[in-house]
Amino acid sequence: MDKKVIMHALNLCKTYTTGTEQYHAIRNIDLDIYEGDFTVIMGSSGSGKSTLLYLLSGLDQATAGEVYFQDQRIDGFKERELAHFRTRNIGYIYQSINLVPDLSLLDNIALPGYIAGKNKASVKQKALALMTKMEIDGQAGRLPSQTSGGQQQRAAIARALINSPDILFADEPTGSLNYEHGESVLNILTSLNRQGQSIVMVTHDIKAACRADRLILIRDGKVSRMMDFDKFEEGSSIEDREKMIFAFVTEKESA
Ligand SMILES: Nc1ncnc2c1ncn2[C@@H]1O[C@H](COP(=O)(O)OP(=O)(O)OP(=O)(O)O)[C@@H](O)[C@H]1O
Ligand SMILES: [Mg+2]
Repeated sequence: MDKKVIMHALNLCKTYTTGTEQYHAIRNIDLDIYEGDFTVIMGSSGSGKSTLLYLLSGLDQATAGEVYFQDQRIDGFKERELAHFRTRNIGYIYQSINLVPDLSLLDNIALPGYIAGKNKASVKQKALALMTKMEIDGQAGRLPSQTSGGQQQRAAIARALINSPDILFADEPTGSLNYEHGESVLNILTSLNRQGQSIVMVTHDIKAACRADRLILIRDGKVSRMMDFDKFEEGSSIEDREKMIFAFVTEKESA
């Protein structure tokens, strides 16, 4: 395998402290994420998937351990450096869609581009082009509350892509969608990945996990196991893959 590592985590730990209570959400994770891969993270509710995404993407700081983006160590960054790093390199689709309620879909999508200090007219043009690609260009002037869940989710994807990130994180991007909207979001992500976009997606859904080149199972804040797949072919029969993933997720941990 001659894949290039785009992100690398070493002995990663995250402990949440609430009052006097401590909870070890991530426990000594070592992990490589490969460039161009569609990496999928699965695991039961509360196993630490969102936390892991926060740490890799620089949305939150680890309690211990190291995080590298390409050859750059990011875990020691100060908040401002981290924000700058995220704007330049990271796209993030949140578990809750998280659009700004009083901005139009277009302005929501363009906002990270404005924050990056890019030329306003070209950011707006790119935002409109992304909306066309996501088939929500008809909703450009609407507030999120005036659009459907599927349209908001596609706007959230467009927003995550506005600064052409090196790596796109997606935390349950189909979690709140019906089957049809979910498939359409997965097809968008798969097609982005075909064009070379590195993606790390969390999902509970076995059908969504079928898009993975590499599947990672998290259990109690640790990597429980991993599995590699051939590239997903759209329209191909996925029954065998679904069965494999079901076995992968449900199989008892070997001692
Ligand atoms: N800010 C916080 N303070 C204290 N504990 C937290 C905090 N955020 C998360 N946790 C705890 O850390 C553990 C991991 O949470 P996390 O959100 O990463 O889980 P998850 O795997 O994404 O779950 P889900 O599938 O439900 O989204 C959970 O037990 C959760 O209660
Ligand atoms: Mg989560």
